[in-house]
Amino acid sequence: KKLYAVIGDPIGHSMSPAMHNDLFQHYKIDAHYHALHVKSEQLEDAIKGLKAIGISGFNVTIPHKVKIISLLDRVDSLALSIGAVNTVVNEDGQLVGYNTDGSGYLTGIRNELSSLEDKKVLIIGAGGAARAIYFSMADAGIKQIDLTNRTVNKALSLIHDCPYAVQSEALELNETEKQLIEYDIVIQTTSIGMSPERDYIPLSLHNLKTNAFVSDIIYNPLETLFLQNAKEKGASIQNGISMFVHQGALAFQKWTGILPDLDRMKNIVLKQLG
Ligand code: ATR
Repeated sequence: KKLYAVIGDPIGHSMSPAMHNDLFQHYKIDAHYHALHVKSEQLEDAIKGLKAIGISGFNVTIPHKVKIISLLDRVDSLALSIGAVNTVVNEDGQLVGYNTDGSGYLTGIRNELSSLEDKKVLIIGAGGAARAIYFSMADAGIKQIDLTNRTVNKALSLIHDCPYAVQSEALELNETEKQLIEYDIVIQTTSIGMSPERDYIPLSLHNLKTNAFVSDIIYNPLETLFLQNAKEKGASIQNGISMFVHQGALAFQKWTGILPDLDRMKNIVLKQLG
């Protein structure tokens, strides 16, 4: 039996084991995916152990996505520039790191919108998730991606760090509210909207373009207050299930060569969320 896993701290609530084990069963692959609780001070030993037992691949989640980079044999260039790895593949005994968070987000939004390249994009937030999405979208050739964040200097740093050609501005939140009409796509990447901040939004959508596409990477709740407000303004909306399922699908494809059934994955996640 091949062995796969997700490592993190905490790890009890991860939906990845249910999603991947269902896929292994569905595609008749003799493998099992485990949730492994790994504390930060044990990360190095854990990676050595996983390599020693010949693990076929694993996902990496909070708080290990950054620190793991120095512990792998190789890391692909997009993951290196993002500075975070969420998927590891055992390639002939070498542990190789990838980042499928940003590319997963991109695949999800491409399924909804036909042409992205000529759209003006706004990303709210400048943390790890924003970084993965911003770099992946810039790498994909999207020309104009602005960033807005409570701490505007963090948005400036992301723009400064981005190795891909893209036009970007870092904006204050209140400034963004005034010029929101300019954006075709708005992507919410902060934790606002998730418990305990369910009743908050990062910025007002009063000036949102009528037919804008608004997405939130949060999936619990399925519809944040931000998405509810966007819907009221006539926008098309997308919740965080898309990014979660697509990052998992791209990981599964790297491990098995099979691009899995996304509807099947979505249903498993929805069932887990109750
Ligand atoms: P992740 O890796 O999930 O993206 P993170 O790196 O902790 O998480 O980033 C969290 C993001 O949410 C940041 O953009 C943060 O803004 P700051 O850079 O100003 O801290 C944003 N965020 C979190 N709580 C917020 C709040 N109450 N108001 C505004 N922004 C908030």
